[in-house]
Amino acid sequence: MRFEIYLETKIIDYSSGLPNRILVNMSYQRTIIVTGGTVGLGYYTALEIAKAHPEYLVVVSSRTDREHAADAINKTLGQRNTVYIPLDLSNLQKVRAYAEDWAAKSYPPIQALVFNAGLQFPGGLTKTVDGLESTFAINHVGHALLFHLLCLYLAPKARVVITSSGTHDPDQISGGMPKPKYISAEVLAHPTAATATDPGRKRYVESKLANVLWGYALGRRLQERVPERGITVTSFDPGLMPGTGLAREANAFEKFLWMRVLPKLIPLIRALIFSNVHRPQESAVALARLVIGADVEGESGKYFEGMKVIKSSKDSYDVAKQDDLWMWTVGYLAKGDGERERFEQFK
Ligand SMILES: NC(=O)c1ccc[n+]([C@@H]2O[C@H](COP(=O)([O-])OP(=O)(O)OC[C@H]3O[C@@H](n4cnc5c(N)ncnc54)[C@H](OP(=O)(O)O)[C@@H]3O)[C@@H](O)[C@H]2O)c1
Repeated sequence: MRFEIYLETKIIDYSSGLPNRILVNMSYQRTIIVTGGTVGLGYYTALEIAKAHPEYLVVVSSRTDREHAADAINKTLGQRNTVYIPLDLSNLQKVRAYAEDWAAKSYPPIQALVFNAGLQFPGGLTKTVDGLESTFAINHVGHALLFHLLCLYLAPKARVVITSSGTHDPDQISGGMPKPKYISAEVLAHPTAATATDPGRKRYVESKLANVLWGYALGRRLQERVPERGITVTSFDPGLMPGTGLAREANAFEKFLWMRVLPKLIPLIRALIFSNVHRPQESAVALARLVIGADVEGESGKYFEGMKVIKSSKDSYDVAKQDDLWMWTVGYLAKGDGERERFEQFK
């Protein structure tokens, strides 16, 4: 006999500001959280995971859910194991509220955190309510805080999978993206007079370099400090995926190209110019494999381009840069010595 225990969760939908009630079946064995799981790459990744593991609770989290992602996944699969819980990575107080809700609800242990949400701001410098540069704040800082606050709830051998981008590597073909230059985490967080006028796309590639640096820094520390937990960390390049929401802040002409023209040319681009270009559905298969694939069990400290392990950029292996980012992140996020100790010791 299978008992189904439902828990009612009251959460605030950030798009409408209204309370939103969801029913979560608490008999699932494990949870997988996919940030940015409502559209694009994250949506198809959540779909792959939910299909492969109907016994897992799959949580898709982002600021808005205009397409009703969880309902769409459940309907497609004829299941009920996907839910949407709002998350705003640009606001650290809201990230803390998300984790507090998690702590209060006794959800099933977290089998994987898929840090996939990401944005580009191609215009001028923008800052979050916390005063951080927005790209770095959303793509890196919010995810790091979420990791530290949810670390306690990770299952044995849990996986952390971070969606980065090949554009973090200046030695790869980057489709006209600028080259990242890592000065320090402090400069990424609070641009100086010298960097405040950098193009937004440079901030994006630097945030994607930060993803890889932090992934290596985290994996190394987990291995040194809590090897018995068996938590693994990998970073991932999905390749170019025209048609997703990533270009939402671009100008009208660029958006037209990105949304309407380039998706139709994927086979041609792949054959003639650049092999690492995919539909989000295709890249999702590779990302889902890192999250649930038995063949990558125990793999940690690696960078995947689609299905294959490759070297990430030279800078990403610079331990001084990894440590600078790690120490800045914990120092900035931890409230007091007690929390700093928890964050450093993964408690
Ligand atoms: N598309 C590409 O060519 C490409 C190439 C390499 C790497 N990537 C990476 O792939 C990942 C997925 O991107 P995508 O192309 O699938 O783009 P997308 O369709 O725009 O999806 C991005 C997701 O992130 C969420 N998000 C954005 N800001 C957020 C915030 N403040 N808090 C919580 N969630 C937030 C979005 O939802 P809301 O806006 O509703 O919050 C959305 O669900 C990103 O990390 C991106 O950098 C993409």
